[in-house]
Amino acid sequence: MTHAGAGEVLVVGLGPGPDHWRTPEVSEALTRATDLVGYKTYLDRCAPRPGQTRHASDNREECDRARLALTLAREGRTVAVVSGGDPGVFAMAAAVFEVIDSDAAARQILVTVMPGVSAMQAAAARLGAPLGHDFCVISLSDHLKPWPLIERRLKAAADGDFVIALYNPASKTRPAQIFQAFDLMRAHKALETPVAFARAVGRPDEQLIISTLAEADPATADMATLVIIGSSQTRFVQRPGAAPWIYTPRSAPDTE
Ligand SMILES: C[S@@+](CC[C@H](N)C(=O)[O-])C[C@H]1O[C@@H](n2cnc3c(N)ncnc32)[C@H](O)[C@@H]1O
Repeated sequence: MTHAGAGEVLVVGLGPGPDHWRTPEVSEALTRATDLVGYKTYLDRCAPRPGQTRHASDNREECDRARLALTLAREGRTVAVVSGGDPGVFAMAAAVFEVIDSDAAARQILVTVMPGVSAMQAAAARLGAPLGHDFCVISLSDHLKPWPLIERRLKAAADGDFVIALYNPASKTRPAQIFQAFDLMRAHKALETPVAFARAVGRPDEQLIISTLAEADPATADMATLVIIGSSQTRFVQRPGAAPWIYTPRSAPDTE
């Protein structure tokens, strides 16, 4: 139940890049919000509106940001919590619920999560259809989880013959983990497996590098890159004058 006249929290995702990948629902929410809360880089992607207050913060302050949004909503404000991509994928929606989980009073606040296009969807669309069959999504960042857990999940995903989408593959402070991840993949998957580095998809500096597990250079990945590593069924479709498509067929053979 919500308090009459109380504010609300709109948890929105901007999509991975251009405005035309932003849903109309999210655009409407950004228009009617009295307050925007989020990482500065994402708030900079929202057009300024007269009378709207922006609360920009550092990238690592997710729960503080969520708490601020809920506090403002209690004061009667309509607060948009802004993420890139989809707000439920390695983004603010989980932080909002983490705070609500530990604060019974916050459960009375109206919270609406609005989906956005996630980077893996945008990257997959550019490449063809690499996520056409079962896939796993793993963040390589050990900021919020230990590296041995990431290694365990990478190995399990490779053993399960999933297509694997890697978010947060590398940063200036974490340059080595993508190399470790590729070493692990090379030990568990066929070397001819298709691999793609999709960087800044939808933005002016977009770059797509298509390779194989044997030849891919992990140094290609940075924080603006989404890495896709195929399953045993993922294949290239060559085409004249352009990079090959990558797709994973809708069915898998019975090899078990
Ligand atoms: C903190 S996560 C946020 C993910 C976001 N919520 C989503 O659904 O796409 C940031 C990571 O998403 C990926 N990413 C976001 N935008 C991207 C883009 N335009 N092109 C490629 N990868 C992108 C990168 O792996 C980046 O390190």
